[in-house]
Amino acid sequence: MEFPTRRMRRLRRTPVLRAMVRETGLNPGDFIFPLFVRPGEGLRCAVLSMPGVFQMSVDELVEECRAASDDGIRAVLLFGIPEYKDALGSSACDENGIIPRAVRALKAQLPSLAVITDVCLCEYTDHGHCGVIRDGDVDNDATLELLARESLVHARAGADIIAPSDMMDFRVGYIRDALDQEGFAHIPILSYAAKFASGFYGPFRDAAESPPKFGDRRSYQMDPANRREAMTEIALDIEEGADIIMVKPAMPCLDIIREARDRFDFPIAAYQVSGEYSMIQAAAGNGWLDLDTVISESLTAIRRAGADLIITYFARRAASLFR
Ligand code: PBG
Repeated sequence: MEFPTRRMRRLRRTPVLRAMVRETGLNPGDFIFPLFVRPGEGLRCAVLSMPGVFQMSVDELVEECRAASDDGIRAVLLFGIPEYKDALGSSACDENGIIPRAVRALKAQLPSLAVITDVCLCEYTDHGHCGVIRDGDVDNDATLELLARESLVHARAGADIIAPSDMMDFRVGYIRDALDQEGFAHIPILSYAAKFASGFYGPFRDAAESPPKFGDRRSYQMDPANRREAMTEIALDIEEGADIIMVKPAMPCLDIIREARDRFDFPIAAYQVSGEYSMIQAAAGNGWLDLDTVISESLTAIRRAGADLIITYFARRAASLFR
């Protein structure tokens, strides 16, 4: 029997050889760090379903962001737990609400850190849905006005990027128009363009205190079975003026990320969501897999699929792994 001349193992023999032919790399600046901010002072409240994640008061948030920035993180994504909830999510549009307060503090103390704000109503409504309820379902067009107002409140507070996650039809166009009219034509929109109705958001709803009190989100978030529809959602958001498009969740959607990368010449973000995080933490906590190996493998896979930016609760730890 003749030995083959092609031996793939030659370039795998040593770390330096492997590094020389590595096709996919990541940098700390590629990660966006999602954070939960709540009223109070000196508070770091552990989120039980997400080991290592905390709801923080503004003062603690600033310190966490300072540390993240020192780690090389360029951007954070803020979610707010408000003082009060009502049917219309009014606290989302309060100029002195939790998000505007957090944004002002961050921009004052860490001006070079990019602050992205999640725009949605589910954290602010008493029913936990992402918009106004009419006849037992979320009313698309009535919700748009509230989302536009919320976006303006965030922009006035100094947010660098607005990120709508509600999945109402035409919300990107509506928000773009509102921002432009109020003097915020320079503020980019990162749209949750292909956002699937996913069981992997479970721990987040614990962290953001936002589970729907009735039904689920399948009348507005996408059916995980649909790939072509995801491309249409992305195309629509781009038409409406989105600057960065997002695919969410990440690891169950690597095919969607890849296809979006091949089709659209826009920056693509992917969200490694709460369930992806907690699954890895739980398995690592039980000694069933190695935490750092799986963090870097999962993030590398998301990058290999085509994501430019990765939103991940592992951002700080990942920054040290990819330094
Ligand atoms: C708000 C929102 C959700 C997430 C991001 N923005 C929850 C949801 O849609 O139910 C999920 C993030 C995560 O799971 O980490 N609409």
